[in-house]
Amino acid sequence: MSALETLEQRIKDKSAHLGVVGMGYVGLPLGVAMASAGFRTTCIDVDPRRVERVNRGESHIQDITNEVLAPLVKSGLLDASTDPAIIAELDAVSICVPTPLRKTKEPDMTFIDKAVDMIARNMKSGSLIVLESTTYPGTTEEVALHRLEQGGWKVGKDFYLAFSPERIDPGNKTYTVVNTPKIVGGITDRCTEVATIYYEQFIDRVVRVSSARTAEMVKLLENTFRAVNIGLVNELALMCDRMDIDVWEIVDAAATKPFGFMPFYPGPGLGGHCLPVDPHYLSWKAKTYEFYARFIELASEINSSMPEYVFQKISKGLNQQKKCINGSKILVLGVSYKRDVGDIRESPALDVMELLRRAGADLSYHDPYVDQLAIGSLQLSSCSLDSRAVSSADCVAIMTDHTSFDMSSIAAGATLIIDTRNATKNVGGDRGHIVKL
Ligand SMILES: NC(=O)c1ccc[n+]([C@@H]2O[C@H](COP(=O)([O-])OP(=O)(O)OC[C@H]3O[C@@H](n4cnc5c(N)ncnc54)[C@H](O)[C@@H]3O)[C@@H](O)[C@H]2O)c1
Repeated sequence: MSALETLEQRIKDKSAHLGVVGMGYVGLPLGVAMASAGFRTTCIDVDPRRVERVNRGESHIQDITNEVLAPLVKSGLLDASTDPAIIAELDAVSICVPTPLRKTKEPDMTFIDKAVDMIARNMKSGSLIVLESTTYPGTTEEVALHRLEQGGWKVGKDFYLAFSPERIDPGNKTYTVVNTPKIVGGITDRCTEVATIYYEQFIDRVVRVSSARTAEMVKLLENTFRAVNIGLVNELALMCDRMDIDVWEIVDAAATKPFGFMPFYPGPGLGGHCLPVDPHYLSWKAKTYEFYARFIELASEINSSMPEYVFQKISKGLNQQKKCINGSKILVLGVSYKRDVGDIRESPALDVMELLRRAGADLSYHDPYVDQLAIGSLQLSSCSLDSRAVSSADCVAIMTDHTSFDMSSIAAGATLIIDTRNATKNVGGDRGHIVKL
């Protein structure tokens, strides 16, 4: 049997030992999907606390409950490790490490570099390596392949290499790792073939594309599409503000068109590890081809100006009531980057809060998913959302519309509300104190 046939056989008969490098928002749900399909799975992470917790059956990711994780750990199907030596036992490994930006908005490839080097030093012959981290087109070939072949092994013969973007949407109860179609593109046709067979074992639908570069670009199109459309609707919100038209009503009415329109909603800016970051990976790469990605840059400019716009809205709202930001009690509701998740990475709420802090506001916040927060030098804890907290605030700023918020009682008790998410849409009665984005 050839190395490829052996690997295929081990994947198909579920005797393959699978691995995930990096067990965060992406890696842990993926490892759980593999183990749930009956594969012995090991998640490797550099964070010993995460590893210890997972080995006790305790999840650090909101979408994975302990009820799901613990039985998999107890049965021996899933475990976690900080030890790179375990890679020598793995038949296939998916890499899910962070891909942040440097301050200069250039890709920070250090996590991928380290993860790939660790695999290169330990992998066994005939194994499959798949990069899942979102990155610029060419990474798998130019970075991962180069490093994996340094020891003299050849791709497509001694090991297999592919890119398969992760599309998980944290907090989404309808679409999960398992029922979201998975794009796969290998360095060689054999790589694509074996990576397809691998993912077909625990994902409902696998979509092959012609190369790793194509798969990398697919993910960047998806996220750039969202970032640009959010930029467009944010610009429309700024325009509507000048014209005194309700942007939310416009989008809702336009969304009744059954074809050719997809609603995107304005807000305080982009957040999370993906949308504010990923398009810059593409524009950075495009520049190396002397191509300037105008839509990406423009959308980024508009989206990143939104926190300042929200700050100005708060300032104007207070001014109407003969108050200024300095010394005013401002209660921020929701600090995570989107509804019903606890992820605060790149959250625009933090930018707005930092502007308010610098202007001398007396800041507090409530978020059921975020217990503690540092805004510059200020350490805050989530306050309870009772009627006193609402009525004693000079301004309630709704930054993220968690479903647990009782908007009617918040609106009834507040003096001034700045609503950046149209969370007060269905609130009746007097709305004179509510200012929408
Ligand atoms: N979060 C999302 O919603 C989402 C969705 C789709 C794609 N992605 C992409 O997936 C990738 C991972 O994102 P995430 O949100 O899961 O990140 P995360 O920060 O939640 O998790 C990354 C994990 O990798 C670990 N790690 C870092 N370096 C390592 C190394 N050298 N070896 C082993 N472990 C290492 C960290 O300790 C951490 O546990 C990124 O490229 C991101 O753009 C994220």
